[in-house]
Amino acid sequence: MKFSSFLYLAGFGIKTVLFRKKDPILGTVIVTDRCNLKCRHCSVNNITAVMHPYAEIEREMHQLYDMGVRILFFCGGETFLWRDGDRTLKDLVIEAKRIGFLIVNVVTNGTFPLDLPEADLILLSLDGDRERHNLVRGDTYDTIMENIRGATADNICFYMAINQLNKDAVRDVCLTARDTEHVRAVSFNFHTPYPDTRDLALSREEKRACCDVIRQMMKEKVPVFNLKSAFPYLIDNRFPTPCHQCVVIEDGKVSVCGRCIDVPGLCAECGYFFVAEYTLIFRGNLRVIAEMLRTYLKYI
Ligand SMILES: C[S@@+](CC[C@H](N)C(=O)[O-])C[C@H]1O[C@@H](n2cnc3c(N)ncnc32)[C@H](O)[C@@H]1O
Ligand code: SF4
Ligand code: SF4
Repeated sequence: MKFSSFLYLAGFGIKTVLFRKKDPILGTVIVTDRCNLKCRHCSVNNITAVMHPYAEIEREMHQLYDMGVRILFFCGGETFLWRDGDRTLKDLVIEAKRIGFLIVNVVTNGTFPLDLPEADLILLSLDGDRERHNLVRGDTYDTIMENIRGATADNICFYMAINQLNKDAVRDVCLTARDTEHVRAVSFNFHTPYPDTRDLALSREEKRACCDVIRQMMKEKVPVFNLKSAFPYLIDNRFPTPCHQCVVIEDGKVSVCGRCIDVPGLCAECGYFFVAEYTLIFRGNLRVIAEMLRTYLKYI
């Protein structure tokens, strides 16, 4: 991250904490909900299968920028499926940088070639070793590893959603992150139990066991892009929700925090680490802030 970007974000953080502001800094654009996979834990794929046009996404980017957002994520559906004529995801990332977003990340299932050096981070979903990843995501593990070998930049961060099917594979994903070329780090979420995937939710004890493994991996110098000071809050779901500093825009509709905001009761069971981390930071939790500074400067 450029030093000027760091200063901007630090200034935003200080103002938010001191004046208890609710302005957003992190925004996500859903470019399409179309997806080539149908993962066992996912409730957001192929609901409309609409590929949003370039002009609409460009408008949404400007709208988020005008709201104050400076960290932008592209998400889906599958982001690498996105097309409008000759335009691809790469054009969206380049345009986002041109507009002035300080950090531009994409989230992908990794089943398409990874030629996106323009992105700051490619969050690539890896949900276990070959066996457990394929159990969750279909037979995709080998294709993903092949695409990582062929990646054109070292900007990949694994993204694992931990659930009943893969809760014993946290260590495998950590070690794969440490040992795989082009992969910079790994970041985790716990399963957020939408009504159709409640059976995949983890108990408090299971979350605690996963956090113990992640903590141990951090001690062993695995690059984990999460804040262990937020783990106790995640285990007990006692972080504030929703996150007012995060917004998502899909088909012109802006939602605070996540597109899941409208699912009754879901926020009380939220498993997204970024929500715990951001809400604790912006409520002024000093331990989480100090760890965030160390972690973000290392991985971004
Ligand atoms: C919805 S996907 C979209 C991007 C891309 N298709 C992918 O799989 O990375 C974004 C991330 O959300 C995660 N995810 C999906 N459903 C989830 C849930 N109920 N709880 C937690 N994470 C979930 C996925 O595993 C993935 O890492
Ligand atoms: S690849 Fe992503 S969007 Fe597609 S089904 Fe899996 S988690 Fe959902
Ligand atoms: S706090 Fe609520 S809206 Fe935000 S990500 Fe969690 S479940 Fe979704």
